[in-house]
Amino acid sequence: MKTLYKQAVGTAHGKIILIGEHAVVYNEPAIALPFLATPVEVTIEPTLGSSQLNSSYYQGDVSTIPDSLLNLKSVIESICTDLEQPLDYMSISISSLIPPERGMGSSAAVTTALVRALYSYFDEPLDYDTLLEYVNIGEKIAHGNPSGLDARVTSSEQPVFFKKDSHFTPFPLRLSGYLIAADTGLKGQTRQAVEDVAEQVKTSYNKTKGIIEAIGRLTEQARIAIEENNPEELGCLMSKTHEHLKKLNVSNDALDKLVDTAMAYKALGAKLTGGGRGGCMIALAKTSKQAKRIAYKLMEHGAVETWIHALGEETDE
Ligand code: MEV
Repeated sequence: MKTLYKQAVGTAHGKIILIGEHAVVYNEPAIALPFLATPVEVTIEPTLGSSQLNSSYYQGDVSTIPDSLLNLKSVIESICTDLEQPLDYMSISISSLIPPERGMGSSAAVTTALVRALYSYFDEPLDYDTLLEYVNIGEKIAHGNPSGLDARVTSSEQPVFFKKDSHFTPFPLRLSGYLIAADTGLKGQTRQAVEDVAEQVKTSYNKTKGIIEAIGRLTEQARIAIEENNPEELGCLMSKTHEHLKKLNVSNDALDKLVDTAMAYKALGAKLTGGGRGGCMIALAKTSKQAKRIAYKLMEHGAVETWIHALGEETDE
């Protein structure tokens, strides 16, 4: 057993699902990109006595962590057991710019940064598959039945074309367009939404499977639209996907209102992103000027925060 008393840091970032959420749980593809504007940092320092967690949610002993953070406790315990390290003597601090429970991968990103910080603190090498295994332990507790997409994207600097149970493909997502993300300010309900879709698959198999497969086809078409640098087509596919997500009952009024607002102000397409039922939506704009106007209008119509992300070369237009 090695015990080092040196500060260690682990990092990760948020993610945006461009297309394919929910269907990805059922082996359909999804396209997602790292959202580097929302970094997470976990710092571990030595302390006396039992390990402490300092986060905006909770400050106190790791052993008395609230239920909402059991995913983190379970990952800390698993790593300490597997690496034969004591559970005590650590002060773990989380700082994150990802709005929590908004479909931006906050839980996967915090867990990724935590796993990296713990391995660094214990001076152990960490390979990528091991990182994903631990993050998925946490994600199973946070989300029930995760596809693994969030773990993959929050730990990677590359956009991905992702299919559960298959080899993942880094995806050069370059397109003449700007993605606007907007936060409804309402907590999303990923776990509940994923469980409800699972229930619909059980009770209404043909109809639900039909919707899921339609989202899969739209995602395949989106891949081609991106490869052909066709933002108009991509926007259209995003909007069609939102209609399917509505049929799966994972949208809500706040998301629909922002989607409609973006379209009314000439977005090429718009949809919810992530688990839905609150959280964030995204819209696609051709120029930076249009993106700024859409972002402004989204704020006027109830968004609490917006971000603009250039998908290709930035221009002044
Ligand atoms: C959540 O960010 C994305 C979902 O597709 C669930 C998952 O992929 O695990 C809704």
